[in-house]
Amino acid sequence: MENKVQFKPETLALAKEIMGRYPEGKQKSALLPLLHLAQAEFNGWLDVPVMDMVAEVIGIQAIEVYEVTSFYSMYNLKPVGNCLLEICRTSSCWLRGAEDIVSHLENKLGIKEGETTPDGMFTIKTVECLGSCGTAPMMQCGAQFHENLDTDKVDSILDKLRADGKRTNYFDAVVVKEY
Ligand code: FES
Repeated sequence: MENKVQFKPETLALAKEIMGRYPEGKQKSALLPLLHLAQAEFNGWLDVPVMDMVAEVIGIQAIEVYEVTSFYSMYNLKPVGNCLLEICRTSSCWLRGAEDIVSHLENKLGIKEGETTPDGMFTIKTVECLGSCGTAPMMQCGAQFHENLDTDKVDSILDKLRADGKRTNYFDAVVVKEY
């Protein structure tokens, strides 16, 4: 059956350009960036028809996509808010107050870890080490790292994200074109 979910033409062109960076027969190597493009284009998460479409574009089995998306925490398999707040909870961040940051976010936003605010603006998610241990505690929101966090800093980040009103993606077609 034909998959009704499709990339926008310009995103498909970009996806093909990325696939072309790899030798013939190795297009599966483009899977991670294509999944990021798909996640950005389809509201920040990867529904099954979206993953199937990516498999079709690359020419691989859908199961090969599911294996990857179910392994990496950067791919969301259920809906998330416009701004996904990913708080590191590993050793350095934990020792330097990650739990307080999560509690502060939960109180401020009125949701628990793993939940999304009713207005669809924020989702709180805890993740493992993001490689910024020297500036713990930290959180990632889209392509941006926010480091040396305290509750005041968190409040101003939330205000700014709310004012921007944009979806925070790891990267999207706009970002790829700028590089
Ligand atoms: S422990 Fe948090 S970034 Fe490494």
